[in-house]
Amino acid sequence: MKLLVVGSGGREHALAWKLAQSPRVQLVYVAPGNGGTAQDVRLRNLAITDLNELADFVEKEQIALTLVGPEQPLAAGIVNLFRSRGLKIFGPSKEAAQLESSKDFAKAFMKRHAIPTAEYETFADVASAHAYIDSKGAPIVIKADGLAAGKGVVVATTLEEAHHAVDMMLSDNKLGDAGARVVIEEFLAGEEASFIVMVDGINVLPLASSQDHKRLLDEDHGPNTGGMGAYSPAPIVTPQLHARVMREIILPTVRGMEKEGIRFTGFLYAGLMIDAHGNPKTLEFNCRMGDPETQPIMARLKGDFSKVVEQAIAGTLDTVELEWDRRTALGVVLAAHNYPDAPRKGDLISGVPPETGDAVTFHAGTTLTDDRLTTSGGRVLCVVGLADSVRSAQSVAYETINHISFDGMQYRRDIGFRAVNRKHG
Ligand code: AMP
Ligand code: GLY
Repeated sequence: MKLLVVGSGGREHALAWKLAQSPRVQLVYVAPGNGGTAQDVRLRNLAITDLNELADFVEKEQIALTLVGPEQPLAAGIVNLFRSRGLKIFGPSKEAAQLESSKDFAKAFMKRHAIPTAEYETFADVASAHAYIDSKGAPIVIKADGLAAGKGVVVATTLEEAHHAVDMMLSDNKLGDAGARVVIEEFLAGEEASFIVMVDGINVLPLASSQDHKRLLDEDHGPNTGGMGAYSPAPIVTPQLHARVMREIILPTVRGMEKEGIRFTGFLYAGLMIDAHGNPKTLEFNCRMGDPETQPIMARLKGDFSKVVEQAIAGTLDTVELEWDRRTALGVVLAAHNYPDAPRKGDLISGVPPETGDAVTFHAGTTLTDDRLTTSGGRVLCVVGLADSVRSAQSVAYETINHISFDGMQYRRDIGFRAVNRKHG
């Protein structure tokens, strides 16, 4: 059968790579794809971005099922459109995607269903927002209500920063409609983890745990990025914490959506903050897989993923049991010069080694033109190493990176440091 993955990042490369391993899968189209998906003979890039044209293509080519990577097409209603045309697709409807596309929707939903999260208020009025900040003090967190491609959250350590963030979003309209309303919430201290599950409307199938590294520089310094690396499993997610997150966060969310008449289907990603006592709170929901978390997660997943997606679309996830490689998978993102502000494009990439049993490189911001591989985005590659410990997985990943070069390449040297410290600290 033929499949379609929508998107162009490292997440989509990893999803397509995994799907293509199935003996029943002939070809995986990736729309629009990247330089890495262009190089793999089992994958084919598709230069269609318009959702109606994509649906036409799926119909014409008799594509068995579609998997959506990024949030934008989900928020734009790709699932509603495909379903209305009788096409099989895994992802949330536009309405269900509000868990990610509107922070206010997500916060109000969590409040209604007593799902642990930071205290908050939502504002459209500048003066009231400033007054609220003054009444609460710093640190405090300001979030644009809508999708802002990772630029919508300001963790303000001073009142000045907080007021400035409100002005930027509400008065200066720097984020457009996405910042027309802001959520202002309590600052939560602790360690983050990514908790991702597949949902078929009723049944919930947890994927392996993972942890992202959002800051640009080592030891979590520098600006926030889309993610500079991730590894799986994340030892902070103990079996006890796992059970608690399912009971207190994931299941109430899926049941709550059902009760409100917006059945959730798709990947549900709860970004967690776990405090010093091990209590989890929800920082945010995403209605898709994480990037770069998908890269190490897919590297560890065993078995036929196309069958899992098929069951998810059929509503029979309760019959699925996932099997995971027991090793740790650790992915390091290689970013372009000047990422995340204004990443430079067009640098020639060399030395990407072929996949081995313990290392695989997923592409994100790359373009292949006549055998020349060049950078075309902020996050360029994600190199994943697999090994029996986090330290060894680091060694494999960083050893692989030594072969790769492009001008301006920047990456963190400490991906996985929290897990390493946990074991040795
Ligand atoms: P979000 O898009 O809501 O996940 O926010 C992006 C990042 O900002 C998170 O991964 C956290 O590192 C940080 N963050 C968000 N909300 C809070 C909060 N209430 N307290 C502390 N840090 C936060
Ligand atoms: N890695 C964070 C995200 O995908 O939102």
